[in-house]
Amino acid sequence: MKKIVITGGAGFIGSHVVDHFYEQYPESEIVVFDKMTYAADQRNLENCLSDPRVKLVVEDICHLERCVEILEGTDLLIHAAAESHVDNSFGNSMEFTRTNVVGTHALMEAAKRHAIPKIIHVSTDEVYGEVLEGAVDERSNLYPTNPYSASKAAAEMVISGYIRSFRLPVTVVRANNIYGIRQFPEKIIPKFLLMLLRDKKLTLHGDGQNRRHYLSALDFAAALDLISQKWKPFEIYNIGTTEEYTNRELSEMLCALFDKNPEEHITYVKDRPFNDGRYALKWDHITNLGWRPQRSLKEDLPTIKAWYEKNADRYNDI
Ligand SMILES: NC(=O)c1ccc[n+]([C@@H]2O[C@H](COP(=O)([O-])OP(=O)(O)OC[C@H]3O[C@@H](n4cnc5c(N)ncnc54)[C@H](O)[C@@H]3O)[C@@H](O)[C@H]2O)c1
Repeated sequence: MKKIVITGGAGFIGSHVVDHFYEQYPESEIVVFDKMTYAADQRNLENCLSDPRVKLVVEDICHLERCVEILEGTDLLIHAAAESHVDNSFGNSMEFTRTNVVGTHALMEAAKRHAIPKIIHVSTDEVYGEVLEGAVDERSNLYPTNPYSASKAAAEMVISGYIRSFRLPVTVVRANNIYGIRQFPEKIIPKFLLMLLRDKKLTLHGDGQNRRHYLSALDFAAALDLISQKWKPFEIYNIGTTEEYTNRELSEMLCALFDKNPEEHITYVKDRPFNDGRYALKWDHITNLGWRPQRSLKEDLPTIKAWYEKNADRYNDI
């Protein structure tokens, strides 16, 4: 592959994907296509940005003509740019539709014009809506329940139209919650780690019983690599893990890292307008390709804590 373009590559997941492909494909040019919103940070790319074969292009995916320019000659497009925080989507839902739907549309149109041979679209388990019992496979219906997940499901519908009408070679991945270093502290793990570092009480939504599965950003990047190697266009892959905790259990694990008593350091706050109780995926399809999660949140938490301790200054204004 001569040219790999990764949208949202200066954000959390995107930057891990950039690191992975940078290391695995030493002959490739890597283009990070990112608008640099509040969630992005150039320091997320410090492992590779000094290398001339990595370029950061600061642009908005909603601008079709810029997408057409940037995507020229691309062999692999990984689309991870998005407005990604559910809480923000309740107050600012138009921006979610603009970036996640219109932006995806502009990218797919540009990809079609250039006949890009491999496109991986990063979607989410949230498009299925809440799954209180059992688990859903890739053929299950989409029932998004908040403006964020609705915009991600709508993006998939745009892609479906491009696949059926133009045979655009897209593969869609729907992943569980992803954890790792460099995640913006609006999401539960970095937010609570910083609160504990600042000796503040953890503010759990509702009764704290909402459940989430947690997948490592490193395992996720490896899954995308495998999909790109064993390439089958038009597929959908759930990318899951067995590691599942309630928000309360997660908060207790975080308190334990700091030797703090959860009874004294956890408080409950008003819930989201709607908060999915649980998401759960069947992910046999990707295991059939030969992928399995290699890491575990429980084991990785001390390293993640150490990273936020070291980089706490980044987030002083938050
Ligand atoms: N975080 C999770 O647990 C999770 C789980 C499953 C799927 N996803 C999906 O993974 C992708 C990445 O999520 P994340 O958590 O890394 O998000 P993030 O908010 O950390 O990063 C998003 C990146 O997209 C960029 N971006 C936003 N709007 C843009 C625009 N208009 N043009 C160009 N770039 C733009 C931002 O600057 C940022 O770098 C998203 O598509 C999200 O829906 C996330």
